[in-house]
Amino acid sequence: MGSLWQMEIYGPTSGSLQVLSSSTKILRDFSTAVFMSNTPKLVTKVSESSIHKQIIALQDLLMKTALDSMFKVGFGFDLDTLSGSDEVSNRFIKAFDESNCIIFWRYVDPLWRLKRYLNIGKEAALKTNIRVIDNFVYELIEHKREQMKNGKLDDGNCSKKDDILPDGFKIKKGDEASYMAYPMGRMPYIWGEDAEEFWPERWLHDGVFRPESPFKFTAFQGGPRICLGKEFAYRQMKIMAAFLVFFFKFELADKGKEATYKTMLTLHMDNGLHLYAFPHVPAYFK
Ligand code: HEM
Repeated sequence: MGSLWQMEIYGPTSGSLQVLSSSTKILRDFSTAVFMSNTPKLVTKVSESSIHKQIIALQDLLMKTALDSMFKVGFGFDLDTLSGSDEVSNRFIKAFDESNCIIFWRYVDPLWRLKRYLNIGKEAALKTNIRVIDNFVYELIEHKREQMKNGKLDDGNCSKKDDILPDGFKIKKGDEASYMAYPMGRMPYIWGEDAEEFWPERWLHDGVFRPESPFKFTAFQGGPRICLGKEFAYRQMKIMAAFLVFFFKFELADKGKEATYKTMLTLHMDNGLHLYAFPHVPAYFK
């Protein structure tokens, strides 16, 4: 199996991000094939723990499956973080997770620049982790170089000119505007009085799923800079969930434990999600 990079060579577009946005069908078919071949590996892993009545760290397994699939789709590279037996992959995912965590702390540590300059504390650890990530990615790029085309990306998210937001708030050229998806997802002002209740049915209207505006459900951002991997991410989540719910029933390993968050750039459960898995026999097999 190839990768999007190879499809880019033969396809009508240039630039990997254009591939993501314009070759929708190719991306859909290819990524579905990758998810369908990677998810059974996850099922096998959960099965083994289920047979031995071992606790499963599900968040960790889902993250690893997602990362392995993303590398296959994006780079045609078989990263193997899920098995836990590939040393290079293990080093990469450890550095990746730690960097994610440390970068978030820059928001709350006013001395981070000084620490970076002096190369001490979390900033020193970040530097080491980034070196691991860089080496890994540069090797990958080297491997794929002939297939790559030069694309110039403007990644800045700051305002290009003075502007006024719809609520009248003024922003100046160069200002950065950001929003907090986490509290927004819990605000009665946006979601109604039952905002904090776990009630997935709120997404259904007459039994049919109706997506909310991306400016209300902001997990993927909205507007021209909306996440280009949104459909990709949903497809992967649906395939993984369908496999897992088909084969297993889950029970929390510690029902009394409170679920809290880990402060990182991306939102993770603190200490993961620990479960027991039991084989699930669908009704029509009984
Ligand atoms: C649940 C999973 C995901 C979430 C919640 C998510 C969320 C986001 C958010 C909030 C942004 C905007 C960042 C900003 O500009 O401030 C973004 C951008 C982006 N995401 Fe995702 N993402 C997810 C998965 C993915 C995946 C799997 C891919 C690639 C296959 C991807 C590719 C991108 C790209 C390329 C951008 C930059 C878009 C641009 O600035 O033009 N994302 N994502």
